[in-house]
Amino acid sequence: MRRPLVAGNWKMNGDTESTISLVKGITDGRAEVTNAEVLICPPYILIPRAADALNGRDDISLGAQDLDINQNGAFTGQISASMLVDAGCKYVIVGHSERRAIYGESDQDVADKFKVAQQGGLTPVLCVGETLEERESGETEAVVARQIQAVIDVVGINQLDDAVIAYEPVWAIGTGKTATPEMAQEVHRFIRAMLAALNGDIAEKLRILYGGSMNAGNAESLISMTDIDGGLIGGASLQAESFLAICMAAN
Ligand code: PGA
Repeated sequence: MRRPLVAGNWKMNGDTESTISLVKGITDGRAEVTNAEVLICPPYILIPRAADALNGRDDISLGAQDLDINQNGAFTGQISASMLVDAGCKYVIVGHSERRAIYGESDQDVADKFKVAQQGGLTPVLCVGETLEERESGETEAVVARQIQAVIDVVGINQLDDAVIAYEPVWAIGTGKTATPEMAQEVHRFIRAMLAALNGDIAEKLRILYGGSMNAGNAESLISMTDIDGGLIGGASLQAESFLAICMAAN
């Protein structure tokens, strides 16, 4: 059985005060979430604040939203895998559609980030997903396959053993439009079948999250689908109440 994972992607939101109160809210309700794994991904600068607020608790994992491919040195403004580990992170999101679209990250860049994340001891959460235009022209599977294949070409299928994939249709992110559970399940099943053709054990074990306007109201119907193993949550992860409701739905 795959253990469900609910990950909060805070994006560029929050400050010290809101981080402390959000972490407190989540830790207060965490005990009821008996099965699902809970992960929060604050902005870099708030990761140590969140770590302090967790105060040694390890039932809520910490992750980052991005990382640099270099280890250290003259890379102004960048943050490396070892820095994230040092700050208490276990996970890092790579290839979020906002990174791909706004900052021009290519499939190759994302694959390189996936590799250095693992080499640095972090579990990558690899985001994939099609734009509205790509969906409407019937390219959803081709796009998702291309994005995943780029990573496999760099690291090999066996490295998917320690990774998470998040299927996030770009048109559903932050728009309030969610894929129906059936639409999402279809792509999740496609991803698992693609991986199963290369390694059945890894495909069976790999957690595939859905992301894109998941909220307290729709989480249960999405996560109840066979191949949906949790969620990557943006907007609804900024309030303890809605984030915990999604954690309970995944539980
Ligand atoms: P959203 O964001 O839940 O606000 O749609 C999801 C994501 O971008 O990871």
